[in-house]
Amino acid sequence: MNRNKNKVEVKGNSSSRKRRRLVVVSNRSPYYLESVGGKIHMVRNVSGMVTGLEPVLASTNGMWIAWGNAPQSCSLDICRIPPDKPTFDLKLIPLDLEEVKHFYLGFSNSAIWPLAHNFLGRTAYLEKDWETYLQVNRKFAAAVAEEAKPSDLIWVNDYHLALLPQMLRSMKVRAKIGFFWHIPFPPLDIFRTLPWRREFLEGMLDSDLIGFHCRSYVQNFIHAAKDILHRDVSFAKGTVVGRRGRRTLVQAFPMGVDYCGIQELVDQKEIQEAARGIRRDMGSEYIILGVDRLDYSKGIPERLHAVEKLLEENPEYVGKISFIQISVPSRIQIPEYYRMKQEVENAVGHINGRFSRGAWTPVRYYSRSLPFDELVSYYLAADICLVTPLRDGMNLIAKEYVAAQDPQKGMLVLSEFAGAAEELEKAVIVNPYSIPSIVRGLKTALQMHVKERRLRMNHMRDRLRRRTVEKWGEAFLERLTLCSTAHKTITRKTIRRKKT
Ligand code: UDP
Ligand code: G6P
Repeated sequence: MNRNKNKVEVKGNSSSRKRRRLVVVSNRSPYYLESVGGKIHMVRNVSGMVTGLEPVLASTNGMWIAWGNAPQSCSLDICRIPPDKPTFDLKLIPLDLEEVKHFYLGFSNSAIWPLAHNFLGRTAYLEKDWETYLQVNRKFAAAVAEEAKPSDLIWVNDYHLALLPQMLRSMKVRAKIGFFWHIPFPPLDIFRTLPWRREFLEGMLDSDLIGFHCRSYVQNFIHAAKDILHRDVSFAKGTVVGRRGRRTLVQAFPMGVDYCGIQELVDQKEIQEAARGIRRDMGSEYIILGVDRLDYSKGIPERLHAVEKLLEENPEYVGKISFIQISVPSRIQIPEYYRMKQEVENAVGHINGRFSRGAWTPVRYYSRSLPFDELVSYYLAADICLVTPLRDGMNLIAKEYVAAQDPQKGMLVLSEFAGAAEELEKAVIVNPYSIPSIVRGLKTALQMHVKERRLRMNHMRDRLRRRTVEKWGEAFLERLTLCSTAHKTITRKTIRRKKT
């Protein structure tokens, strides 16, 4: 393969544009292989991180390195994707069963995930999981080091690979390293319960730039670096000074959505017809929609409880509202996730048993993922999107719904603990820990006058139109490129000073 073809233009500062290849690294790969009728298909994984990074990488023709097994049709371990319009390389790193158990299901998703989402009671801190986390991070580091050139921009993503920046530096990788943490970063008092908190922070801090979705996560991270590692920090400038004087910039970059792409889908006749079909099938006056990976952080049982209370306390809505919940099975081998799946399914059965009348069913529950265009027809069909995570790094469903909906018709009911609430404050904001708060939010949205609806929706849509996912990617890469210049300048100055 001619790797030189992968050189792309990434904007630097306005005066100097730099030609650098982008290498994205994450645990979750953008696609997985599915066999349908003997044929192998590549299907996009459900993950906000994938949704955000794929268009960024697709427009730069670089490389994505992630966990997976290469399809037989691909030579070596690298293939070209996306399947319909190949624009970048995907290099897959296989993990064995023990690694999946202790690195992915264990340390990443039974220690760091609950810790970051403030669920201390659900964390399991096991030595074996930590050792395997080290081992898999080393495996990724070796794969990245094999590919990386000094002129590359390496963009590491998420909590599975926190140690990668430090490992890459110790392997003498000279490329600029950016790190994006896509989930919340917890307050110091919670983070300090992690037995390997020092190693974890040190690992991340060998990046040139660390990005978070929200300012509060930035503050929490800097606070942890100051208190746990005793580093010199500046909250105002967003900097942490590390070993050998290396300065890491820590900043908020809230991820946006592909606003134009969503408009194009919304304008398609087939999608509009599919939306009308959904409304006909439901046969009710109002449709409320929930879409999530089946994760305890998403607050799905609480949401169902609120729908039940709404019907119980407001019998005028019986027969008039349908709640559609699309739940994408996730991390089901972890007992917490399996138990929650059962809890949610029981709750759906309970509400339907209690309130169904004739052909009308209050809750329609789909346990599968939908292709994005089909999801957009659900966004279009829904009068209300109910997004009630107990904690969420960003939540793209909220933004995608607002971007897709007709501003005269739709309304978003949004948890104050979703990162998206920082930008979408014109949604009906609720406290997902309080069932009465969700019920009040639903009633406010259902009864909202069209004038107010239009004002609020247009305000949010304007923001999403301006802060797209492309701009998010550009801003992060521009900042990373500038870090590189600043770093070199500091080094040259330091050398000059030493000589004199
Ligand atoms: N998604 C999808 N099909 C589905 C459900 C979700 O393509 O059936 C996509 C959705 O469009 C969104 C992403 O998955 O871009 C979920 O991102 P979000 O930030 O809401 O949550 P995460 O799963 O990353 O926690
Ligand atoms: C969140 C994380 C992603 C992850 C996604 C799905 O969005 O930030 O890194 O890919 O959840 O989780 P999964 O375990 O299926 O990769």
